Amino acid sequence: MSSDSGFAVRGKEEAYFYSSEEFKAQANLTDEGIFERFKYENFPDYYAEFSELLSWYKPYSKIFDGSDAPCWKWYVDGKLNACYNCVDRHLAELKNKTAIHFVPELEEEQTQHITYQELWVRVNELAALLRDTAGLKKGDRVALHMPMCAELPITMLACARLGLIHNVVFGGFSSSACADRIVDSGSRVLITIDAYYRGGRLLPHKKVDDESCELAEKSGQKVDHVLVWQRYPGTISAGATLTEGRDIVINEELKKYYGVRVEPEEMDSNDPLFLMYTSGTTGKPKGAVHGTGGYLSYVTAMTKYILDLHPEDVYWCTADIGWITGHSFTVYGPLALGGSSVIYEGVPTYPDAGRSWRIAQDLDVNIFHTAPTAIRALRKVGPDEPQKYDFHFKHMTTVGEPIEPEVWRWYESVVGRGKAVICDTYWQTETGGFLCSTVPALQPMKPGSAGPGVPGIHPGIFDEEGNMLEPGCGKAGNVCIRNPWPGCMQVVWGNRERFVNDYYGMYSRLDSKDWHDWLYLTGDAGSMSKDGYVRIHGRIDDVINVSGHRLGTKEIESAALTVEGVAEAAVVAVANEIKGKEPEIYVSLKPGFESSEEFVQKIADAITREIGKIAKCRNVWIVPDMPKTRSGKIMRRVLAAISGKSDVGNVMTLANPEIVETIQNIVK
Ligand code: WT7
Repeated sequence: MSSDSGFAVRGKEEAYFYSSEEFKAQANLTDEGIFERFKYENFPDYYAEFSELLSWYKPYSKIFDGSDAPCWKWYVDGKLNACYNCVDRHLAELKNKTAIHFVPELEEEQTQHITYQELWVRVNELAALLRDTAGLKKGDRVALHMPMCAELPITMLACARLGLIHNVVFGGFSSSACADRIVDSGSRVLITIDAYYRGGRLLPHKKVDDESCELAEKSGQKVDHVLVWQRYPGTISAGATLTEGRDIVINEELKKYYGVRVEPEEMDSNDPLFLMYTSGTTGKPKGAVHGTGGYLSYVTAMTKYILDLHPEDVYWCTADIGWITGHSFTVYGPLALGGSSVIYEGVPTYPDAGRSWRIAQDLDVNIFHTAPTAIRALRKVGPDEPQKYDFHFKHMTTVGEPIEPEVWRWYESVVGRGKAVICDTYWQTETGGFLCSTVPALQPMKPGSAGPGVPGIHPGIFDEEGNMLEPGCGKAGNVCIRNPWPGCMQVVWGNRERFVNDYYGMYSRLDSKDWHDWLYLTGDAGSMSKDGYVRIHGRIDDVINVSGHRLGTKEIESAALTVEGVAEAAVVAVANEIKGKEPEIYVSLKPGFESSEEFVQKIADAITREIGKIAKCRNVWIVPDMPKTRSGKIMRRVLAAISGKSDVGNVMTLANPEIVETIQNIVK
């Protein structure tokens, strides 16, 4: 592992920005006392408050149980259902209110406004279908490979209603990536859609999943049923074909379930709610297991107190539901609070730079949640575009990667018109909800810093020896969380050892039953200034953050290695104006293989096939050899410097220093 720890903090501290009186007057959280109540010494009792935001069939007997460290249990013995909390409990007062606004990409197609009543009906009928048709029952895993559509949250909620563990695979992932997740999670049912719009084209999607099933079966996991939604109910789009006996068209089959209602399953607080796969240091993605009571309490509290969602707000999170941000902050958090959540099918700049702002204007969105990569793209294509539309954000979020102060200021002044507060929320797939952010009505913003730990989260920056660095000391180190919290993943699916090693291996006393001895390692380098604000510098492991999403360099390298003739592959991250970072790959060939344009294309194709377009490399460089240490380790640092056209430093300790210049000439 290489890390930035011990390095001096670069760049100056930015000045504070303060939220308006108008914002404060309406905010959900204005009680300064929260910081005192949620101090480290009061762990875990303060987390009682979060569970009170939910409806429980049976109250818990114990807030926190640390005896199976570090697989913490939350709200022990409590019973609840996530779907009930997100749907049924709102019917009494909000049944006629929009739960989901679905905006199709084509502007000539009408936005669908799905009320809580309609959501309840649709979720019930689908749950009945899942139970009867596919024979699914509590604890079964179900893979959902779907794009942005209203049917995705409906399917997630129907799973939650039955106690099924959903495993949503990002719609843009390839069949191979989808198959890996089906196999690892042991899903025997796959739910998909025939097609969806993106960039003005109706993309065929179902056929990707025919392949996913084939690949999964080859790896030992048979998919018994593929349930297919129709983009246009009543029609099969984009030439999707059905496999007799395996495939079921949901829109057709649902007719048999008209009026059927299904009681929500009473789930144990610590029963898993879903799996979300994410990349790590090794080639194989890991399934983060999120529990029911802890996770739902946590994301509901974060949505209420940090995103400041009220039922009368219109809230738009642009993240794809196929990632954790969409799970926590498009679906579960907002719906648990009776919010109105916008789901947009397509590209934010399609058909032109004003599209996002028209959506905001038409629906009167007042809370906007997006990522620096989207902000950079929107600024690039239309820096003056927001002024042309009449929308008023009270609150804006940024998430997924550090935001450049200059981009932050454009967001604040042009998109927010100087009136919206901004929360820079720092967190991860594994953490379920936020780790660091300002509390919008109580703490000022600082461009480029995520803010202090949110109430209840106690971060620390640690050096290699395990000493906690003094806030404001000017040094960076490993960002750790010093206490457990209810949103944290329970374990890596099927691999407790990997969970313990990856997140706790570095600093924890692995034989301890006392939570004080367990330090959660985020895998990010960062620094903390005197005021406790955390600035994230980047990953310390072999993970690249592309457009706010994590890609493992090893996964991309493994994809390249599937091409015959490839001897070695090394991926490095290079800067990209919009995406933040992007991968670039170096490949050396086995004897008897020659570099050619076709060969380069083959490698590029393999990466798209194995992972998806998201992993596309800026360049594929075929090189005669890799720079290596005497022990044979590829020096990625040297390759990264070559890609970035920066100083390669002292290379004389390499086993083959002469290769550096050869590669520099290729990359020129
Ligand atoms: C990694 C997690 C959960 C959000 C979506 C990405 C980086 C996330 C920030 C931020 C700086 C950030 C970190 C983290 N990251 N938010 N506000 N400022 N960096 O989830 O794919 O699990 O990636 O994204 O490096 O470890 P993810």
